Amino acid sequence: MIKQHPLKGSNRLKLGVFSANADGGLAITDVPERWTASWQDNLTAAQIADRAGLEFFLPIARWRGFGGKNRVREWSFETFTWAAALAAATEQIGLFMTVHVPLLHPLYAAKSLATVDHISQGRAGLNIVCGWNPKEFGMFGVPLVEKGYDQAAEWLDIVERVYASDEPVDFNGSYYALKGAVSRPASLQTPRPVTMNAAFGGPGRDFAAGHCDYLFTTFTEISDAGKHVADIGERSAKQGREVGVYTVCHVVCRETQAEAEDYYTRYAVTMADHAAVDDHMAGKKEFSQSHDRDAYDRYRQRFAGGAGSYPLIGTPDKIAEEMIAIAEQGYAGIALSFVNYTQELPYFCDRVLPILKKAGYRG
Ligand SMILES: Cc1cc2nc3c(=O)[nH]c(=O)nc-3n(C[C@H](O)[C@H](O)[C@H](O)COP(=O)(O)O)c2cc1C
Repeated sequence: MIKQHPLKGSNRLKLGVFSANADGGLAITDVPERWTASWQDNLTAAQIADRAGLEFFLPIARWRGFGGKNRVREWSFETFTWAAALAAATEQIGLFMTVHVPLLHPLYAAKSLATVDHISQGRAGLNIVCGWNPKEFGMFGVPLVEKGYDQAAEWLDIVERVYASDEPVDFNGSYYALKGAVSRPASLQTPRPVTMNAAFGGPGRDFAAGHCDYLFTTFTEISDAGKHVADIGERSAKQGREVGVYTVCHVVCRETQAEAEDYYTRYAVTMADHAAVDDHMAGKKEFSQSHDRDAYDRYRQRFAGGAGSYPLIGTPDKIAEEMIAIAEQGYAGIALSFVNYTQELPYFCDRVLPILKKAGYRG
């Protein structure tokens, strides 16, 4: 019997680590301690998170960077092979792979995903993205498809069908035509590993509502972050399903509020890699709807600090309080990024997790 996937566990607020596989993590900064995403550091960060009982380790899918001084994100580990290696080196944490649907054939993905599910004994997870960066897709000679989520629905359907069927599968869709497809082994999790879809706009939400276990999305302010949860709740109810919502935050956790705020200013304003921030924000604003529209204009520091995600900056008490507020808005979990994961995770885990436990949000 495989164990229950950590995302299906009983903690009211699930926590994980996002984007450690890529240069900079989510930050775009030139501080000397910036994350360079070496393999050894990825391994150490995953083992810290695993031992601390965090539920998941989630990579970003990135094929090219945003220029600037450090060519931030140009260096990133491919996520199936990365998760496979981490699966063999961890005990209990959920290991996600993030895949651009248009760039990987579903049969290839089905086999790779099942391989990681077997290595990890049922801890694999799939994060589906349709992508937004035309320069990145241009590297593959693949155009950004307008109806990416229609393709994603076919893609995931194929993965599920080949796992479920003992007979070869024929598939005739708008995007894929397969003859006699088989994929063994199937994943250990049935009918497939847990899935999330990273999206913000309506079509992405409808895809998540109809096909995935979770939506992974952003919000701008905690006070009205619940509107996104309510929206996905309505969309999934229409399809007779229930879909949880995860979000992403960047973290600076320090003994005093002043220390945390000073460091946030230092890495995400004073020492930001400004040329890369400009490139990233301009591309995202033009081609991606992954945030509220005004977020692009109002929050340059958030883009330098954590790709436009919400900042959790302060003492352990303040950060725990804000996390609880996010949970109270209906979010099932938060994916976290740090300037330097191996340096900052231990303090975060030692100091914030006990507060969340005491408050009943984690066991
Ligand atoms: C929380 C979150 C994480 C994302 N992660 C990635 C990623 O790893 N790689 C990528 O190319 N796009 C990523 N995206 C962008 C989506 O793939 C998508 O292009 C973007 O959200 C715009 O499309 P949408 O309106 O359908 O959401 C992410 C989006 C969100 C909201």
